[in-house]
Amino acid sequence: MKVIDKKDQLSKSIKEAGLSPVGFVPTMGALHQGHVSLVENAVSQCPLAVVSIYVNPTQFNDKNDLLNYPRCLPDDLDLLGSVLRENDIVFTPDDREMYPEEDKRVFNFGNLDNVMEALHRPGHFNGVAQVVSKLFNMVNPDIAFFGQKDFQQVAVIRELVRQMGSSVKIIACPIIREKDGLAMSSRNQLLEPKIRKEASVIYASISSAAAKISGLDIPSIKNYVKRKIEEKEGFRLEYFEIADERELIPVTSRKEMKPGLRYFGCIAVRAGQIRLIDNIEIPL
Ligand code: PAF
Repeated sequence: MKVIDKKDQLSKSIKEAGLSPVGFVPTMGALHQGHVSLVENAVSQCPLAVVSIYVNPTQFNDKNDLLNYPRCLPDDLDLLGSVLRENDIVFTPDDREMYPEEDKRVFNFGNLDNVMEALHRPGHFNGVAQVVSKLFNMVNPDIAFFGQKDFQQVAVIRELVRQMGSSVKIIACPIIREKDGLAMSSRNQLLEPKIRKEASVIYASISSAAAKISGLDIPSIKNYVKRKIEEKEGFRLEYFEIADERELIPVTSRKEMKPGLRYFGCIAVRAGQIRLIDNIEIPL
């Protein structure tokens, strides 16, 4: 694989390779098996795969979260070396390369940027849209691969692509979990050991919620999830919402769930000092 840190060199290399479709996996590094599965998808579907590693400051609404975000480029490159082919590219720009000047663009994603994550992380999706639109313009991929764990991000990216008039196909890949069910995340390595031991409660509680949908109303399911999470010391529920995957409108009763739409139970939890998210499909 080639490691490139300049955008001019990146476009030149992609052009010279002359391969299509070009598959793209944007990441912020601290790679784990969840990322590996995205990269494997890109490699199996595209003769040229590009992976970016860039911790994007504009999507962090919390300065400490940005400061503490794990960074380990040598390990990331080792891991990618075992998945990528000779021609594939890892793009590792710095802030000057990505933001030679301040990005003042303000995107409007309507309801997608008005619920769940957006309420708890103001400005987050605007920052994601800034960086992803820049990366899409630099890589010009045919297919881009994102993790389904970031359920709301996937919906925002699909809308971004529509607004950009881009033809890039967005593929959402399944959540990869640890043995105890915890969704893989770069932030998991920041969990205190005591908290990590109990963190399986997040997936356990949303799995039970999915199983309870036919027997309980939505407010009771939400109360159940809150109770399950908060009976563990050091865990606090930020939200649990059941929303459709297109417009992300949280439902307050089962009657609002429309046949033909897919619904997901989406959760955000403070686990000690660390914020974790997860989701699961809720059967109709
Ligand atoms: O999902 C992520 O890791 C980031 O939000 C992304 C898409 C790489 C943009 O910085």
